[in-house]
Amino acid sequence: MNERPNLSNLLKEERRFTPPADLAAHANVTAEAYKQAKADRLGFWAEQARRLTWAKEPTETLDWSNPPFAKWFKDGELNVAYNCVDRHVEAGHGDRVAIHFEGEPGDSRAITYAQLKDEVSQAANALLELGVRKGDRVAVYLPMIPEAAIAMLACARIGAAHSVVFGGFSADALATRIQDADARVVITADGGYRRGKPSALKPAVDEAAGRVDNVQHVLVVRRTGQDVAWTEGRDVWWHDLVGGQSTEHTPEAFEAEQPLFILYTSGTTGKPKGILHTSGGYLTQTAYTHWSVFDLKPETDVFWCTADVGWVTGHSYIVYGPLANGATQVMYEGTPDTPHQGRFWEIVQKYGVTILYTAPTAIRTFMKWGDDIPAKFDLSSLRVLGSVGEPINPEAWIWYRKNIGADRTPVVDTWWQTETGGIMISPLPGVTAAKPGSAQTPLPGIAATVVDDEANEVSHGGGGYLVITEPWPSMLRTIWGDDQRFLDTYWSRFEGKYFAGDGAKKDDDGDIWLLGRVDDVMLVSGHNISTTEVESALVSHPSVAEAAVVGAADETTGQSIVAFVILRGTAAETEELVAELRSHVSSALGPIAKPKRILPVNELPKTRSGKIMRRLLRDVAENRELGDVTTLTDATVMNLIQAKLPQSS
Ligand code: WT7
Repeated sequence: MNERPNLSNLLKEERRFTPPADLAAHANVTAEAYKQAKADRLGFWAEQARRLTWAKEPTETLDWSNPPFAKWFKDGELNVAYNCVDRHVEAGHGDRVAIHFEGEPGDSRAITYAQLKDEVSQAANALLELGVRKGDRVAVYLPMIPEAAIAMLACARIGAAHSVVFGGFSADALATRIQDADARVVITADGGYRRGKPSALKPAVDEAAGRVDNVQHVLVVRRTGQDVAWTEGRDVWWHDLVGGQSTEHTPEAFEAEQPLFILYTSGTTGKPKGILHTSGGYLTQTAYTHWSVFDLKPETDVFWCTADVGWVTGHSYIVYGPLANGATQVMYEGTPDTPHQGRFWEIVQKYGVTILYTAPTAIRTFMKWGDDIPAKFDLSSLRVLGSVGEPINPEAWIWYRKNIGADRTPVVDTWWQTETGGIMISPLPGVTAAKPGSAQTPLPGIAATVVDDEANEVSHGGGGYLVITEPWPSMLRTIWGDDQRFLDTYWSRFEGKYFAGDGAKKDDDGDIWLLGRVDDVMLVSGHNISTTEVESALVSHPSVAEAAVVGAADETTGQSIVAFVILRGTAAETEELVAELRSHVSSALGPIAKPKRILPVNELPKTRSGKIMRRLLRDVAENRELGDVTTLTDATVMNLIQAKLPQSS
């Protein structure tokens, strides 16, 4: 226990969870897949591409003649929407439910693959009538309703690229994205339901469209029935235009590298980056990973990914992966606490959800609300649980497995990014002996590792930067309109390797642990300490529900550790507790990681995708004026945090 603390030996996690025997016995993927892909990586992906139905089979798997600009399955031709919809109907599964939609107010709708085919065809015909053609861009600004998936598939069907903008973003953010992508058509709704009331969307589109000069048509879904302003000649109701179209539309085959979508990521600085994804490679990897990582059995599983379609998780694991696989899934419009804090579990029970995919921020919120809430529902249908978006603290992982998965279901911690398009590093539920808090192993066909500052691969036990060393099918192809920024951002830090921007370490078994964005790593008295590890240590204390840790400038140590914690329901905010938490971290990670200050707060600043904005907490810890707060879910949170600060510091 007297080890010298450094990045490589902080937080020893000894717990292991082997796959349930029955799941392993019938798992889609066995350990063989790793060997096969290692022996012939491109052959492996060529085989995975055969999951899709190609109008023209590709003969070339990867063209890497102009790195890092990849072309996958270059001479192949396919229609993505046909793959996600029509072919399942042709195979006799037209009556299978594709989407169980659950609206926040409690309305619901089951859409079969046959119905989806009709609606996607109608929407495709409508877009054609509005003048949208192959290669054009269409902006989508919708709530979580089936029309979001239908609109995306309709674009794919006619070879137009969609650019989905999260419905929680402002008119300003929408205008920037419409302009950058040069979208002539915007698909939106009057509004959606959020926290028990209608929340308007159309006014933001009106404002955004007024600021740019390229929007010719706005197609409006009626969801809430609220009043909307109307611009004659520009605005059209979805039910009028789409509803009146023929349900026949013959899908055309496009080249594998036909752009499928642009999705903007904000990043920490600069203007948003339009991440470009194309068709054949993207669909191959999202279909393969959805099938392998979740052990999907399309005939019997009910899959539920709780993300919004405005994020890449919704693109890849609500729309493209699940539908390419002919899965049945749940789509939920609202928030987890409307009308009550058991809403998610009620939905799992109602639809018999077997696979649940959600985010650590949601899991920690459920922990805070209490174990008794999920305990009131029948969750016995669940067989695989997934996590994505941030490192999951070991205690949150254990809580998830125990309280949601009855201490029986595997938990897959999936690491990937908007840029990677699909899951890259994750346990496999029927193969991997899981370690809480670690994404562990690159999937078959994926080459990822951890390197030091000089790009040398670290040995077991070492820490550094996560890199991807070989191209992968669903990789971003470029940043829309800015090849140079694509090169600078991802390919210049380490020659020939993709730099993900995440800190990582390899444990003694060679398993990968993600440590958060490199910008968030702290340097205390010459030691690199990861915010993730200190947060996990805090969350492992029974009184702590959530924690956010930042490094604040410190005259003697370079940086000192400042922690913001949300206490669990009953814990009292006392000086004794703060002292106890400091020594708890010290004994878990070593004295070097002991926070200098710990501040109990009621909320943490989060982006709309649920990530903690440590940058703002750093501003608070360093007594600086706050930076840009426009991407916060709730800007008032920062006032509450500042009000709690001792004035002297
Ligand atoms: C960043 C990418 C992937 C879809 C949602 C987020 C962090 C994501 C994990 C994980 C540790 C994770 C990384 C990554 N991240 N999943 N399982 N463990 N960190 O997409 O908004 O593009 O964010 O999210 O920092 O770089 P994104």
